[in-house]
Amino acid sequence: MKIAVLPGDGIGPEVTRAALRVLDALALPGLVLFEGDVGGIAYKRHGHPLPQETIDMARAADAVLFGAVGDPACDDLPREHRPEQAILGLRSELGLFANLRPAAGWPGLEDLSPLKPQLARGIDLLVVRELNGDVYFGAKGERDSDGGREGWDSMAYNEAEVRRIAHAGFRAAQSRRKRLTSVDKANVLETSRIWRETVIAVAADYPDVELDHMYVDNAAMQLVKSPGQFDVILTGNLFGDILSDQASACVGSIGLLPSASLGERKTEYGTFGLYEPIHGSAPDIAGQGKANPLAAILSLAMLLRHSLGREADAGRVERAVAQVLADGVHGADLGGSASTETIAEAVLKALETIS
Ligand code: NAD
Ligand code: IPM
Ligand code: MN
Repeated sequence: MKIAVLPGDGIGPEVTRAALRVLDALALPGLVLFEGDVGGIAYKRHGHPLPQETIDMARAADAVLFGAVGDPACDDLPREHRPEQAILGLRSELGLFANLRPAAGWPGLEDLSPLKPQLARGIDLLVVRELNGDVYFGAKGERDSDGGREGWDSMAYNEAEVRRIAHAGFRAAQSRRKRLTSVDKANVLETSRIWRETVIAVAADYPDVELDHMYVDNAAMQLVKSPGQFDVILTGNLFGDILSDQASACVGSIGLLPSASLGERKTEYGTFGLYEPIHGSAPDIAGQGKANPLAAILSLAMLLRHSLGREADAGRVERAVAQVLADGVHGADLGGSASTETIAEAVLKALETIS
């Protein structure tokens, strides 16, 4: 079993180190780790945020464990050299079109959510975000206009792109509470009209899943007003990016939300994928030992489940995280004072008692 580890920038290496300690404690037989440069650090070392050797390393692995990229020192570089291009490049180069971002209320955190405790407790949703299209990957640029320089980005989705992510969403719903809310802006956007019609067509293959549609502005409001109504939220790249950060705050912190990015490639043990916290490099707290590593540790659990076929180990890690949170070991993001290392150690200790 080969894992490519790409820690990246800012708190990326801090939270990835914590996840690797957990992986080490699981003592999986036949595991080989490779480490590569990605993001701002890769630009500094190799002149490119996504060196070819990093892509090759990721391709040769069964799974990629990714930290975060982003460095304020790189914000004014031309787009192709900015750290964020590395994660976008990996997602498209590796064909990872299905991004799963689960958000569930954790026992013991109800009072730490900005929502009322009874609302926070009821959250158990999965954002299924399309990851290879939308305004992220359309043609873009800068041109002159009567109003001065004009930036432009084109947003597009074709039926094939929508169809494959819709199937992923419906399949996910089948394994959960069998409800799928497709979120779009079909009252305004042509992309969303294709999106909605295609999702309706795909729904015919999943008669056991209840489908509804919601405009994204309403979805943002409903997520705060009654988040318990959602099971699977199926949406495009941009809306999914925004709604998943919002969902993370509803459960208590962005430092708790993991993600899996999957495509069609199978490995010997499962599906090839890239696993990363949904948060970024958090330059405001980098290097201070304040980063919550649980999103990275939960991303590792998703890696074990989807790419390595180690469901039992994934469950163990998730139960250990639940115990740590219930025990009140909370970082600064949850109003506590536990450091990255303290939280990681608490997870290791909890693992010892969980079979
Ligand atoms: P961010 O997610 O890095 O941080 C947002 C806020 O949440 C900050 O206040 C930060 O301190 C806090 N935070 C984030 N993760 C945390 C954790 N694990 N524990 C405690 N607090 C945490 O988003 P941003 O500030 O908008 O972006 C910073 C950089 O990260 C930018 O360069 C951005 O492009 C990049 N970014 C990268 C990814 C990725 O690698 N996938 C994702 C999002 C943002
Ligand atoms: C995320 C991030 C990325 C995105 C950025 C860094 C390109 O915000 O993973 O959520 O927008 O997808
Ligand atoms: Mn994001």
